[in-house]
Amino acid sequence: MLKLGVLASGRGTNLQSIIDAVKAGELEAEIEVVISDNQDAQALERAAKHQIEARYVGPGNYDNIQDFEQAIIDQLERNDVELVILAGFMKLLSPYFIEYYQSRIMNIHPSLLPAFKGLHAQQQALDYGVKVAGCTVHFVDQGMDTGPIILQAAVEVKEDDTEESLASRILEEEHRIYPAAIKLYAEGKLEIEGGKVKIKESL
Ligand code: GAR
Repeated sequence: MLKLGVLASGRGTNLQSIIDAVKAGELEAEIEVVISDNQDAQALERAAKHQIEARYVGPGNYDNIQDFEQAIIDQLERNDVELVILAGFMKLLSPYFIEYYQSRIMNIHPSLLPAFKGLHAQQQALDYGVKVAGCTVHFVDQGMDTGPIILQAAVEVKEDDTEESLASRILEEEHRIYPAAIKLYAEGKLEIEGGKVKIKESL
């Protein structure tokens, strides 16, 4: 069974969608540990509620970024984590961490990448005036919100959308495609070739 480690900084609804998919038997994987850089993250409560190990690793408790990341890696290693899931983890990981888990880190971002990287992606989409927005699951490389794209889902932008209304429709799609992307990985159907992800239909 694929062992997952989830990193989350906030409310953890994407984490919840993965917990739910595992519980429903739709995703053959096990969440071994949830780690947060924020002591008050709702994600930690969600993990604890489902008897998943929940760990706070506070950046302020370490002298430098390398020690902070090493503490996270130690927690992941202790749990034999094979795939690292960034679910609203708002800290940029260093090349050291990315290389350690090369091609074994996934992220979800609330835009159709490569458009609207960074914070407030939904507001960026509204400000630009795009008619279609969405979300992206991708493998993480050393850039911010870059790396080989695994799945995307599109959402229509409405005339009267606010950041909140658009974000909430995109979030519904996030909750659908994140477990789906992890499932593809768990089934060995993802192949990275020339910086692109190929999805193998059957083995
Ligand atoms: C989600 O919308 C996720 O796509 C976004 O943060 C939110 C976390 O929500 N991530 C990023 O913007 C990463 N660049 P959640 O804590 O309820 O899953």
